[in-house]
Amino acid sequence: MRLRALVAALALGCGVPGHVVTPASARALMVHSIEWNPRKEHVGAATGALDLGGDLVLFGERETTILSDGVATTTRGDLRPAGIIPAPDGSGTWLTALDARGVLYRLRARRTFEPVSDRYGLDGKRIAAVTGFGGRWVAFAIGDTGVAIADGAQVVHFDLAGVRALAGGGARAWAARDHDVVELDPVARTMRTYESVSPRVAISSAGRAFVASGAAIYTQSDAGDLALRYVADRDVDALVASSERVWFTSGGDLGVIDGDAVEIARHALAPASRLVASLSGDVWAIDASGAVTRWSRGAAPSTTAPASWDDAVAPVFARACAQCHTRGGASGVDLSNAPAWRTKHDLIRQRVLVDRDMPPNAPLSDADRATLARFLDAR
Ligand code: HEC
Repeated sequence: MRLRALVAALALGCGVPGHVVTPASARALMVHSIEWNPRKEHVGAATGALDLGGDLVLFGERETTILSDGVATTTRGDLRPAGIIPAPDGSGTWLTALDARGVLYRLRARRTFEPVSDRYGLDGKRIAAVTGFGGRWVAFAIGDTGVAIADGAQVVHFDLAGVRALAGGGARAWAARDHDVVELDPVARTMRTYESVSPRVAISSAGRAFVASGAAIYTQSDAGDLALRYVADRDVDALVASSERVWFTSGGDLGVIDGDAVEIARHALAPASRLVASLSGDVWAIDASGAVTRWSRGAAPSTTAPASWDDAVAPVFARACAQCHTRGGASGVDLSNAPAWRTKHDLIRQRVLVDRDMPPNAPLSDADRATLARFLDAR
């Protein structure tokens, strides 16, 4: 698979094929920033971030700050972000970090980090990168020697030196190296290599791969090939997957690839910002000075007149509740109309805004939670 030849051909001015999107032909992306530090807690310059549910961890050069529901706890140390991964016993999802020696830690009880390399059978190993994927798999890049993929029951090893970063989605992990990106299939135990210069990889929740190299972004076709999808006017600085969508940034533009659509918000970010995906579908941007912003797709929710159930709740319901709460649905509780929300007002408030155990399968985005809060508070 030769990505390099195609990029070179584009650079030589051979023109961009019709199906390839450019900044000029991309649709406009509507984004708004979300307040993530309402109590104005002190946080230092960040080099990395991870969030899970109501917890946000900001990693700095010498300290780590944990914000749980807006309240900050800061500890000294040299942790850097690892990933959001399934716990080895399947008991939940862990927010994980790595120290300088390659020991893996997980956030415990919302305020401390606990070492957990041994829980994955990796005691004493130098873990370089981690990714969780497909609900039960975790891939670890170990030292400079290989990638181990665990599913809680067994571990599959791949001999692969020089892995810089890991990404995963569907039932595959992808390892980015200096001059190629390697797709690892832990079930068939096979590897497939795609040549690419300093690739960045992101995998959507459906398992489709996106690879950035230079100013180009390739997406994986159903046949497994990588096809050119977008050519920016600057190099792509970051590419991350957040649920079904992939966010990227290039020269300060913030972009989203969602299904077949490529959308761009021009000059939304400071140039050379890093991106960090949130499971909620939002994205974190960290600029060169360590300032953190959180971005959500869509127009900023209006703060004026209380909206009707149809306007405010119906879209969120369709996204986040309908799967289980339609009439005759799996939960046995019909919440598909305004009268049901009046009757169960307090219970909905409790489960969605206080306990936050609804929806049980995927966290609500902050924007959706804010929409429901405004609707529920207005009554
Ligand atoms: C993946 C399935 C699923 C999704 C998605 C889901 N729920 Fe539920 N929900 C359940 C199940 C199952 C129950 C019953 C068991 C329980 O109470 O935990 C339930 C119970 C509830 C209850 C308690 C109802 C009662 O009468 O006891 C409320 C309130 C609720 N859900 C609200 C919501 C809202 C609002 C959303 C969307 C923002 C949502 N749920 C999304 C599965 C789901």
